[in-house]
Amino acid sequence: MKKVLITTKLLKSNEERIDRIWNAKLNLKNEIYSGKQLIDLSKDCDAILSSINDKIDEKIITKLSDKVKIISNFAVGYGNIDLKAACKRNIVVTNTPDVLTDATAEIAMLLILGASRRVTEGIEWVKKENWKWSADFLIGKQLSGSKLGILGMGRIGRAVAKRAKAFGMEIHYYNRSKLNKDLEAGAIYHNNIQSLFSTSDILSINCPATKETTKIINKKTLNFFSKESIIINSARGSMIDDDSMVEALKSKKIFALGLDVYNGEPNIHPGYLKLPNVFILPHLGSATKKTRTDMGNLAIDNIEEFFKTGKCINKVN
Ligand code: GLV
Repeated sequence: MKKVLITTKLLKSNEERIDRIWNAKLNLKNEIYSGKQLIDLSKDCDAILSSINDKIDEKIITKLSDKVKIISNFAVGYGNIDLKAACKRNIVVTNTPDVLTDATAEIAMLLILGASRRVTEGIEWVKKENWKWSADFLIGKQLSGSKLGILGMGRIGRAVAKRAKAFGMEIHYYNRSKLNKDLEAGAIYHNNIQSLFSTSDILSINCPATKETTKIINKKTLNFFSKESIIINSARGSMIDDDSMVEALKSKKIFALGLDVYNGEPNIHPGYLKLPNVFILPHLGSATKKTRTDMGNLAIDNIEEFFKTGKCINKVN
């Protein structure tokens, strides 16, 4: 039986499947492993089923046992793994695309609604029990008739576009390349981010975390937005320069922000916690029973297929 290290606690049905097919080291206490623990625990393993909690950088990859041939990441994003270093060691890296598209797009819509309708302030008022309805109480932004900019029109970006259209929004996007008409589905292409940012009433960040997208929202690019605009991020924290963003929110350079992901999460820039115009969630994008089960099964399938045929379903390196 193959030996596999599972670095994060999975849903019960996934763990039961794993127990049936592998000699598995499950993480029943749901600890976050250090680099040293990852290296030690995987010493006698043929594969690692990792999660976004694991920072598997070059230093760790060079010290992994020769036995480890595949790292199957329980996520669509794989910015937590150094792909080049894995390639050098002939370690295959896989991810779990598609199965989390709908759930993540739903969370993006929640961020859009939460930030535009001032939900953080609303909840605070309800808790204080002294709120009073009036015509000008907590006036927010209406989605219908407004322009949604999508930064990164991949699977999740397009799923957000589809939902936002049902809310009566006009869709604009920036992508490395213009999509064909079918995939565009009426969305308007911008060939540079300045054009997209200055057009968007709301910007949804849906691009992958790469060197090019790191801090793509920064002091300079924040100036492209109007004072009434809203930014939401359901992709990765690395896309935002937090100091500049906090400053822009404080000085009302933008209207509001919605976040599900953070630089260095679970830590959050303290500036976000104090601001009323920030709507925040603890990385819930894929957190539904259906999606987490499907992600677990796909992460398992990726390893199983590799063990059986040497081929990969969702290879990313
Ligand atoms: C979650 O953030 C993922 O990348 O799957």
